[in-house]
Amino acid sequence: VSVAAVVVAAGSGSRLGHDRPKAFVELAGRPLLEWSIALLQARPEVSQLVVVAPEAECGQLRQRWPAPVITVPGGDERSDSVRRGLAAVSAEAEWVLVHDAARPLVPEHVLTAVIGALRAGAPAVVPVLPVVDTVKLVAADGTIRSTVDRDSLRRVQTPQGFRRDVIVAAYAAAPGVTHTDDAGIVESYGAVPVSTVPGAEEAFKITTPHDLRLAELLAGPRLAGLPADDGWTGA
Ligand code: C5P
Repeated sequence: VSVAAVVVAAGSGSRLGHDRPKAFVELAGRPLLEWSIALLQARPEVSQLVVVAPEAECGQLRQRWPAPVITVPGGDERSDSVRRGLAAVSAEAEWVLVHDAARPLVPEHVLTAVIGALRAGAPAVVPVLPVVDTVKLVAADGTIRSTVDRDSLRRVQTPQGFRRDVIVAAYAAAPGVTHTDDAGIVESYGAVPVSTVPGAEEAFKITTPHDLRLAELLAGPRLAGLPADDGWTGA
């Protein structure tokens, strides 16, 4: 089996209001990044793990996770960081998962569904959730223009899964293009359909202090499923 996982953790996370990069902020005593690494390392299908981190953190990460984990410095935009991560993925990998370190609480069933769809032949797959709130288009002056049909809208999460040749070709075809997710790059590339599998509310992205508080409430029970904490704080 050959699934490579790229975890992007090079964002500054300024909206979280911490002085550390977001992926190194602690959740239940563990840096956010560590939650995703533990989740992915526990999967027998994942044969290679690439971590994309802020340059200043790379040295200590390499000590913490020596080879076979590969740590590479990220870029200015998320897409730049993914590009750098993809460059470190082995040519032997058939599939690539791209995952945000800012989503530490992804349940196993989401990973299973993404990997399952790839193995069943999907060239690109993203976990999604329905939109439950009514969504409005709003003008710059704050007045509502229209109501959007939410039935066809989805919220998109990570890990997103791709055939390696597809994601590599899509990124190569769009140098300098930035998207907020990797499926967006593949959609623009246009050569293959992007399919969906059910995501999970717990896989939400930690962006604001409120998100971190919510994650703290959910994290305790999840710790039972992780390897013993050795006290590493990322400091
Ligand atoms: O900023 P945002 O929360 O959308 O970032 C999503 C993920 O992308 C985070 O895990 C963040 O660390 C990562 N990222 C990155 N390089 C950047 C910007 C974001 O690796 N330049």
